[in-house]
Amino acid sequence: MNSEISSGSVPAKSTHDWQPCSASGGVRVLNGFLKVIEFDAAECTRHADAFERLRRGELQAVIVHNMYEQAALHGLVERLERRDPVFLQTWFPEKFRSWFYGRNLNLSRPGLDGYFDEAAQFHRQLESLLPGPQGLVQHVGRLLAQLDGGRPVRAAPGPLPGQNYMFTTFRAHLEGGYIPPHFDNEQTLRPTYRNLHEIVELHMTSFVLALTQAEDGGALEVFNLTEEPAAARMLSDDRVLVKPDVSALDSVSFRLPAGSLILLDSGRYLHRLTPVRGARKRWTACSFMALSRNRDATYCWG
Ligand SMILES: [Fe+2]
Repeated sequence: MNSEISSGSVPAKSTHDWQPCSASGGVRVLNGFLKVIEFDAAECTRHADAFERLRRGELQAVIVHNMYEQAALHGLVERLERRDPVFLQTWFPEKFRSWFYGRNLNLSRPGLDGYFDEAAQFHRQLESLLPGPQGLVQHVGRLLAQLDGGRPVRAAPGPLPGQNYMFTTFRAHLEGGYIPPHFDNEQTLRPTYRNLHEIVELHMTSFVLALTQAEDGGALEVFNLTEEPAAARMLSDDRVLVKPDVSALDSVSFRLPAGSLILLDSGRYLHRLTPVRGARKRWTACSFMALSRNRDATYCWG
């Protein structure tokens, strides 16, 4: 939907700011290209084909509201702010002004030395943060499985028996924090992805569970530019000089309220995190996902 034409007849970028709409569960087409459905967490079983529609390209995003009650979220974020439990803290490149609890696979050592021990510890800490069926692994995994006809959603298994990748990581984005435009499938080009290559299909999606909302900014901006799973290319690397000109691309910007989750076709669609404005941190839990090669599960990693 390029209604604005500049004086030189070059199409100008058009950005659509998404607004929550939990009522329908029907498909909305945002800015002429991004098809999204959204509904309440209690409705997940009524959308058992949501993942399949995402994989087929019939949807680009699925938004699930009220994944957790607000009181539970406040308690969770308060503990994250206090670093209780003492999660492993790791960092994005410094200029992104953001960090993780847990270790992002992209930023792990090429041979994954120590990663699976850290993952076991991280899962124990997740369990102490929110125990039992409300735990992130159980609760988010169960609701996501409902969106895929009951197919289990679980941490990807590591190369040795008993090993698992981190189901997710927490991300804290400070004022000015951002992530530049990229396709998530660029991680398939990294050495840290070698084991996953053998056990998952190429098409990758991701979820972002909002734990807090930035005062301003901190939007997930999705551009009208796609790349097929087999054609991954590295964009979030300073040595790559030729990058898409996002100033010319139509986009949709999502600022999710705390407790909402977005499932995005982030392997195919170019996207970025716009700079966070204001003192409040933007806290999320974020994971990547792909079907196991024998299609009996969806595997997650953070
Ligand atoms: Fe991404």
